[in-house]
Amino acid sequence: MPEQSRKSVLITGASGGFGIEFAKQMEPSGYRLILHGRDKARLQMTLDALKHPDRHAIILADLNAKHGLSELIAAIEHEPLVGLINNAGFGIWGTFEQTGIVPQIDVIKTDLKAPIALTHALLPGLLKNDGFVINVSSLAGEYPLPYMSTYAAAKAGLTYWSEALRTELNGRIRIVTLAPGPSPTGFRVVSGMPSGTGSFFRAPIQVIIHACLRTLENGGGYCVPGWRHKLLYAMQKVIPRKLGLSIMARQMKP
Ligand SMILES: NC(=O)c1ccc[n+]([C@@H]2O[C@H](COP(=O)([O-])OP(=O)(O)OC[C@H]3O[C@@H](n4cnc5c(N)ncnc54)[C@H](OP(=O)(O)O)[C@@H]3O)[C@@H](O)[C@H]2O)c1
Repeated sequence: MPEQSRKSVLITGASGGFGIEFAKQMEPSGYRLILHGRDKARLQMTLDALKHPDRHAIILADLNAKHGLSELIAAIEHEPLVGLINNAGFGIWGTFEQTGIVPQIDVIKTDLKAPIALTHALLPGLLKNDGFVINVSSLAGEYPLPYMSTYAAAKAGLTYWSEALRTELNGRIRIVTLAPGPSPTGFRVVSGMPSGTGSFFRAPIQVIIHACLRTLENGGGYCVPGWRHKLLYAMQKVIPRKLGLSIMARQMKP
């Protein structure tokens, strides 16, 4: 059994697309995986898809509930944690005016507040164990997104916070800021967007998580995975903001 089997990695949002793939690609390193989410049946499916389900564990916690974060932190108190993957997240598609304020604030709680709070609580142990943090942000954090404005704001905050923290800690811990573009997970359905044929920029989940874990192996960094997402990122940087915003508004309009 590999040396890592005594060390734990917490994956938030392990019942969804990226979370399941993180679990599959991390298991061969020998870690004990703590699979977090809200949907027990889907978390069990993630567990069943692994080679050694008996080595891993499931933890239920709603990151938007009043005590969700503190319950999650308490539940892993005694784990020898070496890795934290802040992956849980969702967006809401629609006009700002017609989208309720409660779900919009929930996006900020899950996508921005939870990663910051979890990292702050778990950082002393992660530093002691020479560990790592992966923050799953988005290319939505690189550009304002009409009709998903609060999601883009949360991801912009996450990217800026994660990159600043990586610099501040200066290699004392490995940090990856993962910034994917569109990907075939449950994200689109949860956001309320109609399922379409998919965008040209959509990249396979396996490619995204593989690129992220390569960045981790290389000491951490900002990871835009795969050539399609790299192309989208390059376009975000060169297309004038006014033109880019009107293209995005046309694409995203309900
Ligand atoms: N797919 C894309 O196009 C894309 C692109 C860029 C970035 N991302 C980011 O990738 C991350 C993973 O999403 P995904 O694409 O894999 O979507 P997904 O399949 O919908 O998975 C989302 C995961 O987040 C969990 N989650 C959502 N709200 C939660 C809450 N309040 N409390 C606890 N867990 C919660 C879900 O758990 P339950 O279902 O158990 O509640 C699920 O496991 C997100 O941060 C997303 O913003 C996605």
